Amino acid sequence: MKLFLDTANLAEITEINRWGVLDGVTTNPSLAAKEKRDFADMIREICAEVDGDVSAEVVATDTDGMLREASELAAIADNVVIKLPLTPDGLGACRKLTDEGVKTNVTLCFSATQAILAAGAGATYVSPFAGRLDDIANDGIALIAEIADIFRVQGYTTEVLAASLRSPQHVAQAAAVGAQAATLPSKVFEQMVHHPLTDAGLERFLADWETYQAALEA
Ligand code: E4P
Repeated sequence: MKLFLDTANLAEITEINRWGVLDGVTTNPSLAAKEKRDFADMIREICAEVDGDVSAEVVATDTDGMLREASELAAIADNVVIKLPLTPDGLGACRKLTDEGVKTNVTLCFSATQAILAAGAGATYVSPFAGRLDDIANDGIALIAEIADIFRVQGYTTEVLAASLRSPQHVAQAAAVGAQAATLPSKVFEQMVHHPLTDAGLERFLADWETYQAALEA
């Protein structure tokens, strides 16, 4: 499963990228707004930092407007993926961009039938939002599993990008049900890497090594 970082913050991206595990970055208008700086500059710097796919979202709500924004965003760097909302206009823009060879991420997916439409429009990725469904007492991971099953049975090439993941458990569950990609905030990457037994084990190894070296020198 590809691992994407869900942020527009360059410091967070640089930190997680240093771990050698990052396949790309996803941004959205809310994450971009938090950075309080020019959007194109932000995307340019993220694309220079990360080798993989960087999703940049349009804010127009009509197909023509989306396509205008997409052409400006796609010109920023080769690894820009155009993020489009799962609306009739977003699907129309997705189809045109796919036909032009531009990568797309159809976002704000909350049902299997919406995901089928994104696949039909030729999306590179479709992003079902697990956490936001959990927030309203639905089962977000069950939706990701359902979409992954449908795509496998149908042979769709669109990749399931599990989004709105809020915990390490979510990430493990998304991987287990067959999501091809997952996007998670930096906090969840940090929660995933740390384990008290790793810390205690390392501390013990280093202490034993010190004792061993001191004995050799005595
Ligand atoms: C995905 O592309 C979205 O940017 C993101 O995962 C949404 O997460 P949230 O529901 O935690 O805001």
